[in-house]
This record gives sequence, structure tokens and C-alpha cells, in this order.
Amino acid sequence: MTHSSRFSSSRFTWPARLLHWSMAVLILAMLPIGAAMVTSLGHYHALVALHRPLGAAILVLAIVRLAYRRRHAPPPLPADLPPWQQRAAHASHVALYGLMLALPLVGWGMLSAARYPVALVGPLVLPPILPGSPALYATLRGLHTVLAYALFGVVLAHLGAALMHGLIRRDGVFTSMASWRVGSGRG
Ligand code: HEM
Ligand code: HEM
Repeated sequence: MTHSSRFSSSRFTWPARLLHWSMAVLILAMLPIGAAMVTSLGHYHALVALHRPLGAAILVLAIVRLAYRRRHAPPPLPADLPPWQQRAAHASHVALYGLMLALPLVGWGMLSAARYPVALVGPLVLPPILPGSPALYATLRGLHTVLAYALFGVVLAHLGAALMHGLIRRDGVFTSMASWRVGSGRG
């Protein structure tokens, strides 16, 4: 009953898939790097020095991805997917995009408020985006933690939904993102 087949342009285009998977790797690395920074005493500086440029890369890629998405609409979800699941998919994607933009901006903003230089690689240093303020730093530092946990939660739900599509419904949603072949047609 649930094995609806999806024909024309049933896959994300290859640039959309490349962006999805490279960002998934970056984000899945950032969560434990951030957690290790605040829980272990060792390697703090090396970890933060990695955390800043990876976070900045996520911000740039998220903007590129949203701009690309406006011109290349994603494939539609299967018509027989219950409406609440369509809404949940949409809401979770909005949350994922929002958090991919908000977390790096809050990270950048909190270091600006702490008057701490946001050094990326080599001589590349981002300018402050907020005035120096200990109170603002404290608020944004707390927000960064809350948003990181929220992202982790939504990623877990997303993973569960992807596996539900791939293993139980087998409705083509999983392969629309997980197929390796170049091109965007039937796969
Ligand atoms: C998607 C991007 C990002 C993710 C997923 C992420 C995730 C995290 C996580 C999980 C923590 C530990 C939070 C805690 O337990 O309190 C953390 C801390 C931190 N993050 Fe991020 N972060 C991101 C982007 C950034 C960016 C762009 C910057 C700076 C430019 C940044 C700067 C920091 C700093 C300074 C800390 C705390 C270090 C400390 O207080 O010891 N983050 N981040
Ligand atoms: C940090 C990890 C991840 C993030 C931030 C993420 C984010 C996203 C976003 C924002 C979309 C919506 C794309 C769009 O409509 O423009 C999406 C779609 C998708 N993702 Fe992920 N993803 C992650 C990991 C994964 C993993 C590990 C899997 C598979 C096990 C996966 C499978 C899929 C699938 C199948 C779709 C297509 C859903 C649809 O057609 O509506 N994702 N992902």
C-alpha cells in the first residue's frame, strides 16, 4: 500500500546531494567538537581553532544551499504520505535550515560580544558583528548551547525519518537524497 513509485525528477540534483552530504559531515563533526571543547580540559585551543572555521563554512554553505534551492525545487514527497508527515517533514527542514544559519551567527556574535577575535585560517579574521558586552556574551553563550542541543535533537528525528522511508515505506524518499549516481532524473 505504501509502495508508491516516483518517476520524473524523483531525486535531488547532484549539487543538492553534494551540499546535503558535505554539510551533514561538517555538522555531525561540529556537535562532538563543541561538546569536547566544554567537557575536556585537553586540546581546548586546537578544538576551538577547528570549531570556528568549520562553523563559518557551515554558514556559507547554508546560504549557498538556500540560494540554490530557490532555483532548483526539491522533488515532491510521495502523494500518499499522510498529511501530518508532510507537515512534519516541512517543519523539520525549516528547523534544520534555521539552525544551520543561527548557530554559526550566534557563535560569531557571542565571540564578538566577548571582544574575542574570530580567527579562521591563516590571517583570515572575521570582523565583530556585535558590540562588546559581557551580558550579551552570557546570553548568546547560553543560546548557543540550547540551539546546539536543538539541532542535535532535530538531526536525530531526521535520521529516524530517513530510515523509516528507506527501510519501512521504501517510497523513494531515501534514495532521492542517498543515491550516488550523477544526474537528477530517475535513479
Ligand atoms: C553549525 C555550527 C555550530 C555548531 C553545531 C556548534 C556546536 C557547539 C557545541 C555543541 C558547543 C558546546 C556547547 C555546550 O555544551 O555548552 C559549542 C560551543 C562553542 N562554540 Fe559552537 N557551534 C557552531 C558554530 C560556531 C561558530 C561559527 C563559532 C564561532 C565563530 C562557535 C564558537 C563556539 C564557542 C566559542 C563555544 C564555547 C567554548 C567555551 O565556552 O568554552 N560555534 N558549539
Ligand atoms: C547533520 C546531519 C543532517 C542535516 C543537517 C540534514 C539536513 C537536511 C535538510 C535541510 C533536508 C531538506 C532538503 C531540502 O528540502 O532542501 C534534508 C533532506 C534529506 N535528508 Fe538530511 N540531513 C542530515 C543528515 C542526513 C542523514 C544521516 C540521512 C540518511 C540517513 C539524511 C537523509 C535525508 C533524506 C532522505 C532527505 C530527503 C527528504 C525529502 O525528500 O524531503 N540526512 N536533510
